[in-house]
Amino acid sequence: MTSVALLGYGTVGSGVFDLIEKNSKNTLQSYDEFINVSHVLVKNIRKHQDNKHYGLFTDSYEDVLKSDCDIVIEVMGGIHPAYEYIKSALMARKHVITANKDLIAEHGEELMTLANKYHVTLNYEASVGGSIPVLKTIKESLAAHPVKSITGILNGTTNYILSKMYNENISYDVALKAAQDAGFAEADPSSDVLGFDAARKLSILTHLSMNSVLKVKDILIDGITNLDEKDMAIAKKLGYKIKLIGKSIQYDHCLHAFVKPVYVQANSMLGLIDNEYNTVQMDLDTIGEMTFSGKGAGKHPTASAIYGDILDILLNEKKVLEPATKRPKICHYAQGKHEWLVRLYSLNQPINLEKILKFFTDGNMEIKDFENPNDLSFTIKGISESTLFEIIQKLQNLNIISVSKYFMIL
Ligand code: HSE
Repeated sequence: MTSVALLGYGTVGSGVFDLIEKNSKNTLQSYDEFINVSHVLVKNIRKHQDNKHYGLFTDSYEDVLKSDCDIVIEVMGGIHPAYEYIKSALMARKHVITANKDLIAEHGEELMTLANKYHVTLNYEASVGGSIPVLKTIKESLAAHPVKSITGILNGTTNYILSKMYNENISYDVALKAAQDAGFAEADPSSDVLGFDAARKLSILTHLSMNSVLKVKDILIDGITNLDEKDMAIAKKLGYKIKLIGKSIQYDHCLHAFVKPVYVQANSMLGLIDNEYNTVQMDLDTIGEMTFSGKGAGKHPTASAIYGDILDILLNEKKVLEPATKRPKICHYAQGKHEWLVRLYSLNQPINLEKILKFFTDGNMEIKDFENPNDLSFTIKGISESTLFEIIQKLQNLNIISVSKYFMIL
């Protein structure tokens, strides 16, 4: 018998409990093991007095630590006290499973080292991509192939909002409200909509797949809050969709990582991932491109990844990779030349196109929308991000434009 303790009984915790119960016969048959939930740690036990498993509920973490449970499953979220609980569980030689990407992105190296020291497992599949078993696949099945770049739609909430804005021609605010009503966006959606949630997941993915320590502060992060109906309309007109993309690229001399809205072909693999779905694409040495996709958020997708982590421990007992050792040099712009969609606004006077054209001598520019004389949209090919950024800065400094946006076209 393997005993597990759940730290937290919210949406994900209750989902994990359901899955353990539902699958108990199969697990016994296939793994010759019975999984028993020994404790459920909550803040307020009384709130759960009608639960049929009420006898398992406790508000004392000491009880969990002192017990002989084998696996501690942390589904409380937040950094504190999850960090302290996980550390003490590892030091008490208990395996740990967590869905907590904030914690792994921030303290993953230290916790992995601790798990190794105490010969226990630390699994965190649910921290990235919900139901998609991408971390285990990277660690094990693809271990022979260094990853050159990783590209993903890593946040279900923002993908849901962007899909709504695109399909229903609605504003960001209205789409956010719809995402909150559908149970995806939280009351305070900042971590999702400002891009931090996706950045933490990108940091975890990059750590594992490129053996590189990528701190969230080294990722260029831009969320979706500044996108408007016009951005969506232009995307539609040109056959693109806008997706919040997280991308890490290993160049010869540096690593570049970003989370930002990007224009992608509407019928490309990235373009076809809508609503709460996530996707992870990798370009691997010798075997080329690979794509994974599935539901990235919600009770059952997250619980599914945690359940997989439990079975992984049953099969393998102890197996934590050493934390990454490479501290990459970070480059702040995408290297090489790319295609961009640029929007320039002049708030006080109509845009002087002639003046603007003089600055864009590099690259191949095509005007896409200039119906409003204060708002110019064009695509430009064959220009580096740093050059584009410098030109836009100059235009702003010379008051030729007041505001600007630019998006990479993938
Ligand atoms: N808020 C996250 C998302 C949940 O929307 O993707 C899963 O990490």
